[in-house]
Formats: sequence, C-alpha cells, structure tokens
Amino acid sequence: MYLTKTEEKMLDGEEGYAVKKSMEILVALGNIYGAEKLIEVGSVQVAGVSYHNLGDAGLEFLNELAKDGKVKVLTTLNPAGMDLEDWRKLGIDEEFARKQNLVIDAFRKMGILISCTCTPYLIGNLPRYGEHVAWSESSAVTFANSVIGAKTNREGGPSALAAAFVGKTPYYGLHLDENRVPDTHVEVRTKLTKFSDWGALGYCIGKQVQNKIPYITGIKDASVDELKTFCASVVTFGSKPLFYMKGITPASEKYQPPKEKIVLEDRDIREAYERINDDVEDIDFVCIGCPHASIKEIEEIARLLENKTISPNTEFWVATSRSMKQLADNRGYTEVIERAGGKFACDTCMAVAPLKGRFRAVATTSAKGCYYSRHNMMLTKMGSLEECIEAAVKGKWS
Ligand code: F3S
Repeated sequence: MYLTKTEEKMLDGEEGYAVKKSMEILVALGNIYGAEKLIEVGSVQVAGVSYHNLGDAGLEFLNELAKDGKVKVLTTLNPAGMDLEDWRKLGIDEEFARKQNLVIDAFRKMGILISCTCTPYLIGNLPRYGEHVAWSESSAVTFANSVIGAKTNREGGPSALAAAFVGKTPYYGLHLDENRVPDTHVEVRTKLTKFSDWGALGYCIGKQVQNKIPYITGIKDASVDELKTFCASVVTFGSKPLFYMKGITPASEKYQPPKEKIVLEDRDIREAYERINDDVEDIDFVCIGCPHASIKEIEEIARLLENKTISPNTEFWVATSRSMKQLADNRGYTEVIERAGGKFACDTCMAVAPLKGRFRAVATTSAKGCYYSRHNMMLTKMGSLEECIEAAVKGKWS
C-alpha cells in the first residue's frame, strides 16, 4: 500500500506509540485487502466498549494506547456494559462497574466523546452523503452506508481506533464504488403493519441474501426509526452492511434492480416471527431500544405507560443514549416512565450489559435484540411496542 512521507513517519514512530501501533494495524489491513492507499475519514465510531466483552486483556490494550494516543477526528463510542451514572439501579456489581469505569477513563484520555450509543447519527455524529467514515457498530455501519449514503467498512474495535488516531483508513471494500453495486433484487409484496415487522423483514432479507447487496422494492414509506431497526436486523441475520431501498434511501436512484430476484410475501414475515419467537408466556424482562431509542420512541413509550404500572415480576428498560434521556427529562417522559416502574438504561444495552442468567424471557420490538438475548440464554418474544408494554404491565405475553 502506498504511504505518503508523513504516513511513513507515523509508521516509524515519529508521532508516538499509539499512532505507530495504529499505522501498523492500518497497513496490515490495507495489504490484506489490497488497498492502494489510505484515505481521510470524517468521523469514527468505536465498538468494543463493554468490559463484559473486553475483559482485562482489552483494558490493558486500551491503557497502552491511552498513554500517548489522541484522536484526530470526531470519535464516538458504542454502548458500554452499564449505565455510567445509575449502574446500581440496573443490578450491576461493584467490581464490574470499577473495571468498566477504567475502560471509559482510557477512552476519555484519548479524546473520544463518551457518547456510548449505537445511534451516533441521532446525537451529532452525522456524516454527509458520500463521506468516508470508519464506524464499527454493525447497525450504525448499515445505517451510515444505506440510509445516509456515507461510505464505511464494518470496522473492528482496534481498526476503528487506529483510524481515529491516524484520521485515515485503508481504501478498500465499501469505500470503493465498484463494491457498492447491488446484486440481488428483493421485491417486498407484503404490507408492514407494525414496527417489529421491520425487524422481521430484516431477518428474511438478511437470511436470504447473506453477503450480497440487496436492492429492495415494494416499500412505499419508512420512518427513521423503522429504518434503524431494519438496519440492525438485516446485518445481524445477513452480513453485508449495505442495502438500497427504492424511493427511500438516497443512492437507490443510481441503480436499476438487479436480475437475480427474491420475492417476499406475508408467509415469509410470519415465518420470521415463528423463528424469532419462543413458546413462552411469562415475561420477566422487557427492553425497548435496540438500536438505542430515539426521542420519538421514548415519547411513545411514555404515552403507552401513562397511568399504568409495570408488573412487580418484570424489569422494564428503555435503552438509549444519555443525550436522548436528557431530552426525555426535559419533556417529562422520564417521570412518566419511572412512575410506572420503568428504568432508563443509558449508555448500555441488552446485548452488552452482563445479563446472562439474570432473566428467563425477554420481550422486545427488536429482532437483533432477540438474537443477542438468545446468546444471553433468554427465551424471546418480538412484537409491537404496544404488545411489549402490555407484556411489561401483565408480566405475560398475550
Ligand atoms: Fe445497539 Fe445494543 Fe442493539 S449496540 S443495535 S442496542 S444490540
């Protein structure tokens, strides 16, 4: 891979340890994937923040980099393993909190914004159409590539950090237009009638196209919240963090539907629910906000919980960013949700918090949330927000 004089000096260690290490990572990646050069990135989003996933080895790696590493571009963080302020309320133990705080201290020292959200585009890390970025959270990467039309590979935690310290990333993969051409036409012949249908649709498309790029037709309208849950699902059950949706995503007009075609009908959506949902009635955990809840979703939760009480047998979480929670505080939504017995889980989420063994069955609006909850040994139910709120109030899935 071609390096400029300045980049060569970085690789030789002239800018210190973190930049040298980062250059080694970027050059190795560039050589593996045949990148011709490095390109500048407008922003970085770093995943691998939860101590639950990092462990002591990950913490040590971050502390080494934090000794002299400072990010060169706007860099935001994915959710951590706990609410950074109210972790006790979520049942997190002291030792985990101590270690998680050390992880956050290391990121703070690097000059990273302690945003702890998988929806950076809702809180100010919003690239423009066509901008190159280096993001690592899969749902955010899919949203950036598809809904915004920015360009990013699905970075790992270390390669995203490396891009942040250098301000550049190797020019390969989805940074190149020739790798962004859709190759499967997906015609949707079913009506999406409730929010969770978008997760079910992502399940169907992801499973069927796997690592191809779908060009989706047949969808008339989609809100940002529907698109963000679809992004999370399609990349979880498939693997390519890019799709086109005719008339909805900005670059869809550049292409014609490919010849290879898949048709999705009502029965496909029904089957997705059958596969995602377990046969369970008693629900002891309800979590909304995967990806992190927007202010509109929080408003809706508050409206549905007004004058209701969550079952004493059920824990109810709204997973969101701290910035969104501040808006909810100002609008009075937090008070309504907490009065009903709900809790805000800021900075964290149902997948990266240490939840294994704590709950038996979860209800959520998110297909991705169900996927990760199964890894946490929970039975799962996916449904509309109304169905999830009802489950929280009754402690049962109707
Ligand atoms: Fe976000 Fe966690 Fe879901 S990172 S997409 S809330 S699994």
